[in-house]
Amino acid sequence: MGLSGEGAAGEEWIERLRAPRPEPARDGSPPDDRTLSRVIQAATSVPDHGGLRPWRFVVVCGTGRQRFADALVAGLHQLRGPDQPDAAVAKIRGKAFAAPCAVALIASPDPTSNVPVWEQVASASCTGYAIVLAASALGLGAVWKSAAVLEADPVRALFDLRPDERLQGWVNLGSPAPFGPKAARPESPVDLDALVTVIGDDGVHGGPVDR
Ligand SMILES: Cc1cc2nc3c(=O)[nH]c(=O)nc-3n(C[C@H](O)[C@H](O)[C@H](O)COP(=O)(O)O)c2cc1C
Repeated sequence: MGLSGEGAAGEEWIERLRAPRPEPARDGSPPDDRTLSRVIQAATSVPDHGGLRPWRFVVVCGTGRQRFADALVAGLHQLRGPDQPDAAVAKIRGKAFAAPCAVALIASPDPTSNVPVWEQVASASCTGYAIVLAASALGLGAVWKSAAVLEADPVRALFDLRPDERLQGWVNLGSPAPFGPKAARPESPVDLDALVTVIGDDGVHGGPVDR
C-alpha cells in the first residue's frame, strides 16, 4: 500500500508545474534587483551532491546585452566562417535582445572532487529549471534558451569560462508576454506506460500503474 500523496497544497504545486509558462516580452521590463536575487537564490536549492555548488550565474540585462550580442555574432563567425548571410547574423544577434534580461547558466564542476563531474553538471542543469519555476511563480516570463555557439571562443571569453566550465544556455526573464499560439499543455501530456517501467519482486517489468 503506497502513500496516496494527497494534499491541497501539493495539488496546487503540480498544477503550477503543468500550467503553461509565459515567455518574457521582448520589450518588457526587467526584474528588479530584489526579484532577480530571489530567483537566483531559489536556484541554489537544487540537489547538489557534496554541497559543491558546481554552478555560477552571469546576469546580462539592459546595455550588457550589446556585448552578449557581439559575442554571439563573433561566435557565429568562428563556427561558420566570416561570410554569413545578414539574416543569420540578425537572428543570432536577436537572441541577446529577446528579453530585457537573461541569467546565463554556467556549470562549474570541481574535477578533483569525489563527486563525478556528470553529477555536478546534472546539479547545474537543475538550476535552469529552478530559475524558470521561481521566476514564473513570481509572475515573470521565463524561458531557457541556447544557441549553437555556446562553445565558441568569443562566447566563452565573454562569460570568462575556465576550461572545465560550460555555458548551459541562459534563462530569459522579464515581464510576461501574452500567450501566443502556444497551447496549454494537453490534459494527458505523456504516456507514462511508454516512459516508465517498474522492476517488481518477481523480476517482471510492468508499467507504473498496473504493477
Ligand atoms: C538546455 C536547454 C536549451 C534550450 N534552448 C532553447 C532555445 O534555444 N530555443 C527554444 O525555443 N527553446 C529552447 N529550450 C526549450 C525551452 O526552454 C522551453 O522548454 C520550450 O520553449 C517549451 O516551453 P515550456 O517549457 O514552457 O513548455 C531549451 C531548453 C533547454 C533545457
